[in-house]
Order: sequence, then C-alpha cells, then structure tokens
Amino acid sequence: MTPRICVVGSCNVDLIVRTPRMPRLGETLAGSGFLTCHGGKGANQAVMAARLGALVAMVGRVGNDLHGQQIKQNFAGHGVDARHVLVDEDLPSGVAVILVDDGARNCIVVVAGANRALTPADVRQAAGVVSSSAVLLCQLEVPLETTAEALHLARARGVRTVLNPAPARPLPPEVLALVDVLVLNETELEVLAGVPVGQTEDVGPAVAATFGRGPALVVVTRGEHGAVAFDRGIATVIAPFAVEAVDTTGAGDAFVGSLAVFLAEEVGFVAAARRASAAAALSVTRPGTQPSFPSWAEVEAFLQRTGGVV
Ligand code: RIB
Repeated sequence: MTPRICVVGSCNVDLIVRTPRMPRLGETLAGSGFLTCHGGKGANQAVMAARLGALVAMVGRVGNDLHGQQIKQNFAGHGVDARHVLVDEDLPSGVAVILVDDGARNCIVVVAGANRALTPADVRQAAGVVSSSAVLLCQLEVPLETTAEALHLARARGVRTVLNPAPARPLPPEVLALVDVLVLNETELEVLAGVPVGQTEDVGPAVAATFGRGPALVVVTRGEHGAVAFDRGIATVIAPFAVEAVDTTGAGDAFVGSLAVFLAEEVGFVAAARRASAAAALSVTRPGTQPSFPSWAEVEAFLQRTGGVV
C-alpha cells in the first residue's frame, strides 16, 4: 500500500549562492553561481517523500506574495496535498539565503516570515490529514508549541511520529516523550546533549544519556562519516556511500523524508536508515535543495550499484 505521510513544518524559497570559499566578515567576494529553488526543512522532507511515491500532505504557512504562490505550485507539481498550507495576510513567505562553497559546505540564514505564524489551531484544523497518515514528520522551523500540538495529535491517533530537531535548540522532555523516531545530526545532538560529539565514540554515550527515556529509535547522521542507528540503545553503524559531493544543502532533509517512507513500508529500521542514507548521498551529488532529491528508481539503482541493499 502507498505510504501516507503528513509533514507539519516550514516552507521557504532558497536563494543559493555558490562561492569559492566562505567570505570573512566585511569581505566582498565574487560568487560563481546563483540558483533559486524551493526549500524549508518541512517542505523539503515532504517533497522527498513524494519523490519516493508516498502520498504526502503538508501543513504550513506562506505569505500572500509571489513566493507563496510559487511554493503552492511547487507542491502541486510534486503531487503534495497543500490544502493545509495556509496563506498569511501579514507576513511574507519564508526565505533562506544559502552560501555553498567549493567544498560543498553551506552556511544558511533563514528569515522565517509566515512560518513563525503557524499555530496549534492550524494543526487542529488539519487533524484529518494527520490522523489518516502512517507517519507524521516534524522539524523545528515553526513554533515549538505548534510542533508539540502535531506530535500530541499524532500520538493520540496512533500515528508514528518522527522529529528532526533542526535547527538545533534544547527541547523539553515532554516533547521528546511524544517522539517515536528522532533523526538528528551531530550539531543537533551536541545542543540536546550539552556535550561535544566530535568523535564516533562520543555519539553512543551522548544518545544514551540524553534520550535514555525518550524515543525508542534514534538516528544520528554524520555526513561523510555515515550514520549511527540506535534501536532501543543498540547501535548499528551505517557506513557512508562514497560520492563526489557538490552541494550538501538539504541532504539531512533527503534523509528524513525518505526515512519516513521506508519506515512506513516496514522494511526494518536499520534497512530504512541505510536506504535513507543512499537517498541523502545521491542528493549531495547535485546542486540545489529539492532539485537534488532522487526518485525511487534512482535510489534503487544506486543501492544495486553500490551493493547497499540490506
Ligand atoms: O535543510 C535545508 C533547508 O534549511 C533549506 O532548504 C532552507 O530553506 C532551510 O530551511
């Protein structure tokens, strides 16, 4: 059966500048390229799930402006149900200014705009699409009380909850208690755990100390070092795929959006994380955020080619 995914989160337009290196404070540099594309962690995860063939509903807010119209058209183009993407009359659509250097690394500044006006009441209005989903996906680019409401609603209706706590911020234990699957990178883990996790051996103790009584399933994504999947505290290392990275923007969203689909298909937690890792690896080989996301066929072909099917 086709998995149903609901995403409650942010929608942005990404303005991506390519630069040979990151500028210093006060410095002017000549950029080498410019790309406008659709972004926002919520929207990215929704589109990634739709690229893999899931039935996806998005709950969010955009401004009453050209970007807002384009964001809605983009959802329609990907077959994402955007009936619950509301139009805010007071605030502009969210925008992200992103610098990507020749090492494929990025720096991002987000102006949240209408995303910060998404309310718990907006989520309650969308209760139907949350309840009819197999998986709810949330991030932290909309107000925390809105994310908490979505998690509450999903938990009450028996919908599996996945939280990507990005951008990083400390989280109250009562919010973590509503999460079934947590997916975070090392920076986010450091913020939640309050300790540095620079080395592979730091990750396990930080996860155990921080989420001991929280989500049963945790994935820590480690970029070029792969990922570690924790199933009730038992760690499995997901080896990285060797790829030539050109732009890592949105790779985390490719991971989370595809993990939701693979979890809904019940391929098993570690296999789902391995497949999500393949989707994320493919995404870094192409420029842009959503335009870099692979299709189902591309992920399958890549897994076959790399011997990554588990
Ligand atoms: O995770 C990448 C995303 O972060 C970008 O699309 C940008 O809009 C910000 O939300």
